[in-house]
Amino acid sequence: MKIDGVAYRSVWVDEDGWSVRILDQTRLPWTVDILRLTDEQQVAHAIKSMQVRGAPLIGAVAAYGLALALRRDASDAALESVAAMLGETRPTAINLRWALARMLAALRPVAPAARAQAAYDAAAAIAEDDVETCRSIGQHGLPLIQDIAARKPGQPVNILTHCNTGWIATVDYGTALSVIYQAHDAGIPVHVWVDETRPRNQGSALTAWELGKHGVPHTVIADNAGGHLMQHGQVDIVLVGTDRVTRHGDVANKIGTYLKALACHDNNVPFWVALPHSTLDMSVRDGLREIPIEERAAEEVLTVTGQTADGKVVTVRTAAPGSAGANPAFDVTPARLVTGLITERGRCDASEAGLLGLYPEFAAKA
Ligand code: MRU
Repeated sequence: MKIDGVAYRSVWVDEDGWSVRILDQTRLPWTVDILRLTDEQQVAHAIKSMQVRGAPLIGAVAAYGLALALRRDASDAALESVAAMLGETRPTAINLRWALARMLAALRPVAPAARAQAAYDAAAAIAEDDVETCRSIGQHGLPLIQDIAARKPGQPVNILTHCNTGWIATVDYGTALSVIYQAHDAGIPVHVWVDETRPRNQGSALTAWELGKHGVPHTVIADNAGGHLMQHGQVDIVLVGTDRVTRHGDVANKIGTYLKALACHDNNVPFWVALPHSTLDMSVRDGLREIPIEERAAEEVLTVTGQTADGKVVTVRTAAPGSAGANPAFDVTPARLVTGLITERGRCDASEAGLLGLYPEFAAKA
């Protein structure tokens, strides 16, 4: 996608042919800072500190992290230990483990002398696969928006979204935002309600920035406003992404997603979830009990970060002095609250039958 007319991806190999470039998402929306990563420790830090975030993107960046490590030491032991270290950087998004498992499967049979190059090739394949997958997700979601637009000619389709599911959460295009971009690009009038997404503000800082750069009309709202807007007929559809979808269609996503799904259920608003195949975890049957939920620093809840009029980025405490904070970063929406799933292969029910209809090759996975 483009920033001020220049095409970017969210991760790429530098002109030197080996180091890895990312956009520092902790600096957005204030500054477009491009970082150069040269070893696996820098990659692990980038993922943990959320310089890169979003389920598909952390998988792709971890894959490049393995390639960086193998340049120095391509032994079997290094391959296994670096993959294990990178796999521990964040717990909830399955895409991280999916990407590393794909890398290990590709690299274990390769002789150490050829491993580093093979790792760059395998990481590039993951990145390219993600771009094409996200483009297709947008195409398969587009008819949902077209149908709503046909029912209210001349009026914008009001879409509510949570967290950031855009091109910077993936390698390009995004998941739920890919649908929105393709609807906008097709000339459908859309308006996006952007949940602020406390505590890290992926909505107000990242989604609003992305939509603004692409010219998509949008309004930032407090996380608690969605239910009220739905009660007053101001939300036509909710579109979110996900960090892990279980065999039965339960959906782990950014904290607060479950409350949006509940409000949709009460107000008869469709609640759709967009995902690439790398987000499916067919080994999990009970999302609520089996998906590990990342617990992040309480400081993120007790403070807010913003920019002053003279351009300084500052973090200030908003909670009462001495109060404790708790910061579960994701929640699980049960399949029964999900209207449907949008994938690169089409749309389906949030159920085992629905998923296996699109991905029959996963039937055997325990
Ligand atoms: O903590 P984050 O910012 O990595 O969380 C991201 C999300 O929850 C997204 O909705 C999710 O990764 C799916 S969209 C690519």
